[in-house]
Amino acid sequence: GRTSGVIIAMDGPSGTGKSTVSRRLAAALDASYLDTGAMYRAATVWVLDNGIDPDDVDAVGGSVRGLELRVGTDPSQETVSVAGADVTGPIRGAAVTAAVSAVSAVPAVREKLVAMQREIARSADRIVVEGRDIGTVVLTDADVKIYLTATAETRAARRNEQNITEGRGDDFAAVLADVERRDRADSTRALSPLRPADDSVPVDTSELSMDEVIDTLLTLVHERTGVR
Ligand code: DC
Repeated sequence: GRTSGVIIAMDGPSGTGKSTVSRRLAAALDASYLDTGAMYRAATVWVLDNGIDPDDVDAVGGSVRGLELRVGTDPSQETVSVAGADVTGPIRGAAVTAAVSAVSAVPAVREKLVAMQREIARSADRIVVEGRDIGTVVLTDADVKIYLTATAETRAARRNEQNITEGRGDDFAAVLADVERRDRADSTRALSPLRPADDSVPVDTSELSMDEVIDTLLTLVHERTGVR
């Protein structure tokens, strides 16, 4: 068992504001922050840079043994490196986003990254760990498990707004279809499907401002752990 430290598990689908919420919560608690999605993205950079087909399970599984991954835990600054090279920018690229689902479904990839995630979380004093399977698989003994949700329409509207802001066009219907497709893929996959842990607290962000979400979570964390 664990002897010390406060672990907050933050799971849920994309488009709920999960990353921003997790970072801000960690900063407010003076805690560390681990973005496990960034780790799967970094593994995907490694796979693609080595010319490996992301759908070739055996090749991906073999290549991950040589993966030298480092990930920072400062909520105010993301740092991810692969084989000593900074990949903080490249992990957000379109090629990585397209291939990360396949890479993160490979058992050998999950085994290696989950082991790293446990080690990082257990050596932290206080940490917010963000992902899809943190409360259900990675850190089942987390002190607080939060499951962020929002309706598919809300998540699609947010993504569409971001697309417009970043000059990628305005197509709500296509974005909604993509959100629903990814939800299905994430929740029906064989390995670590996305689902709330039985002992998680669901927080629906559809009707809440970012400040309201953070206030809700700070209250929850304080009630459960005494930490503020
Ligand atoms: O949250 P994100 O978009 O950065 O996640 C990238 C991908 O990694 C996404 O396809 C879900 C997957 N992922 C996962 O399988 N398990 C996690 N704990 C975190 C992310």
